[in-house]
Amino acid sequence: MNTNFSNNFKKNIVIDVRDVCKSFKQVKAVDDVSMKIHRGEFVALLGPNGAGKTTLVEMIEGIQKPDAGQILIKNREWTGNEKVLHQIIGLSLQETRFIDKLTVIETLRLFASFYDLTSDRVEEIIELAGLEEKRKSYVGNLSGGQKQRLALGIALLNKPEILLLDEPTTGLDPTARRDIWNILMLLKEERATSMILTTHYMEEAEFLCDYIILIDHGRIIREGDLDKLLNGESHNKTVEFILQGNLQNIDFSQIDVPLDISWDENNSRGKLKLENIEKELPKFLEFINRKNLILQSLECRKTTLNDLFLSLTGRRLHE
Ligand SMILES: Nc1ncnc2c1ncn2[C@@H]1O[C@H](COP(=O)(O)OP(=O)(O)O)[C@@H](O)[C@H]1O
Ligand SMILES: [Mg+2]
Repeated sequence: MNTNFSNNFKKNIVIDVRDVCKSFKQVKAVDDVSMKIHRGEFVALLGPNGAGKTTLVEMIEGIQKPDAGQILIKNREWTGNEKVLHQIIGLSLQETRFIDKLTVIETLRLFASFYDLTSDRVEEIIELAGLEEKRKSYVGNLSGGQKQRLALGIALLNKPEILLLDEPTTGLDPTARRDIWNILMLLKEERATSMILTTHYMEEAEFLCDYIILIDHGRIIREGDLDKLLNGESHNKTVEFILQGNLQNIDFSQIDVPLDISWDENNSRGKLKLENIEKELPKFLEFINRKNLILQSLECRKTTLNDLFLSLTGRRLHE
């Protein structure tokens, strides 16, 4: 038995991505990425458009081939193991194309036939995806949310151990997004499925996933559990404020305690990151008072993954 096998088996690693690279002409879409996904874990690949998320998941799905590096799924590479891997992976692509002139039930039966599944399983999926009333509707007439639920249902048909979802809720309204999240939460409770989900919605990553990998320009820029990621930032509260008054040459370093402030002079608004709100906020307010400035607004909130992404890259996850 080779040592990789016994090590991975012990640690329950189901997906092992090692030093993977993929370029398109001069674009490094995925640039030396390594990551490990454990059994039962829900992992988010969170990054803006063009970060390399689709290229990375498609390599894990065996749809694209890495230029360099290695991908092991339950200790198997794609080449030579296609049949086994297709049995244990369920996936939905960023853009799912169905046959518009098939009904929901016909579409599910078609996919079920690839896996030799019974009609009982098709019924279970219709219920899970909340498509009971749409079973006889043409797929071409479904709403965006219903189509995405159908795509998720298809991904789940053969009870995959590994689920790979590329932007499952992009473009959906909040209610339709919630419906998808609820289906995934049911799955999470069973702890039998490992999932990689790509998204540029931080709320989605926070709500669904145990472990978050921030990705930008093909590279992992930070990763960890949500709490550790945000506490690692050490600033766990963010205060946003707008000031009025004589704002010329305003010097925040005159505040009695050193604060992490970013100031946008053109819009008279600023952002304050606080570690100890009880101690630091009064000093800030005292400074505003002393300078005879007016606080037009002040909003305090938890630091988010978006703040973290912004502080690492200078850009937002999505505009
Ligand atoms: N088939 C392709 N040909 C050329 N460039 C591509 C191709 N696929 C992706 N890219 C480029 O690779 C980068 C990563 O793309 P992608 O993996 O789709 O990112 P994401 O899914 O995070 O939006 C982008 O700059 C994109 O334009
Ligand atoms: Mg993509």
